[in-house]
Amino acid sequence: MLNTRTLALVLVGGTIAVGCGKKEEAAPAPGAQAPAQSAPAAGGEEMVVRIGHVAPVSGPQAHYGKDNENGSRMAIEDLNTQNIVIGGKKVRFEIQAEDDAADPKQGAAAAQKLCDAKVNGVVGHLNSGTTIPASKVYNDCGIPHVTGAATNPDLTKPGYKTTFRIIANDLALGAGLANYAADTLKLKKVAVVDDRTAYGQGVADVFKKTALAKGMQVVDEQFTTDKATDFMAILTAIKAKGPDAVFYGGMDPQAGPMLRQMEQLGLSNVKYFGGDGICTAEIAKLAAGAKTLGNVVCAEGGSSIQKMPGGPDWKARYDAKYPGQFQVYSPYTYDATMLLADAMKRADSADPKVYLPKLAESDYKGVTANIQFEPNGEMKNAAITLYKYEDGKKTPIE
Ligand code: ALA
Repeated sequence: MLNTRTLALVLVGGTIAVGCGKKEEAAPAPGAQAPAQSAPAAGGEEMVVRIGHVAPVSGPQAHYGKDNENGSRMAIEDLNTQNIVIGGKKVRFEIQAEDDAADPKQGAAAAQKLCDAKVNGVVGHLNSGTTIPASKVYNDCGIPHVTGAATNPDLTKPGYKTTFRIIANDLALGAGLANYAADTLKLKKVAVVDDRTAYGQGVADVFKKTALAKGMQVVDEQFTTDKATDFMAILTAIKAKGPDAVFYGGMDPQAGPMLRQMEQLGLSNVKYFGGDGICTAEIAKLAAGAKTLGNVVCAEGGSSIQKMPGGPDWKARYDAKYPGQFQVYSPYTYDATMLLADAMKRADSADPKVYLPKLAESDYKGVTANIQFEPNGEMKNAAITLYKYEDGKKTPIE
């Protein structure tokens, strides 16, 4: 695990404050089934708290979106075993899951739908390209959203009080990769490709600037889209420049075929760098046996699942529920959902206006890390981890 500029992971606390002057109760172990809270519901009244979830669950990025949604669903199931009482009412949590298809316009429309439905909080979105426009919609309607996947640093620049991110951003990912390329692998020449999305362009930019500052040469820059599958023309142009490495800013539906086509063009010894968008289980399938998968170095926010406070136990429960569906971000959508519920409990209210200040003050011991926020909604002390693929399996680089 590498720490970002802002420092090491801090683990704090084992208690959560319960609202309404009730006594403090021990927090459940991260990722474990929590014991039921003992407070009885006044008059047995029930309240439904709805958490919106948005990600692409259709189209080429559906595997990421389903994994995200699974994480949030798992948290909702766990919350519903805890007999949580808020404002004197026993709470039943429900998910309202929306599909934004990784499209910025659909992202904003899904956000508006959740605002109109007056959900109590939102987990999402997954892509920076959808989360950035959606964040304005949530700000306008006053509903908090927590993303554990969208990594473009621009997300927190407007300073919306309703925006929270519980994972490292691309300033850390892009720079971590460039530092590794220059300092550890001693690479000199890199070609940079991006898919022109907010995420792809942003992470490629940070990589490029850091690589140049480190004395590396950017020998070529090429662009594609998040719909493309044929990269022969751009890879042929890149080959002519003789790079040691290609950096790709984008997602795995492009990176997988690109790795296959690199092999076909004889770019077999060229390293392949990318951010969290390519750092999936799925890329191994999409590369369809290309040996170039072994050249991949990718960066993801957070610790590896093996080193997360509640990682191994949580992952075993996830795999039992959703076999073969784990990708990248589901531990974060799980934590994001739990975090919203934790703030509601501490505020003793599911009203966004009331619990929002408590969310900003979170000190939550999650599966992924201990979560606290900077004033702009970025996570404090966010870590990053670099990975490679060994025998087709994503493996942390220690
Ligand atoms: N980290 C990727 C993005 O921000 C998923 O779009």
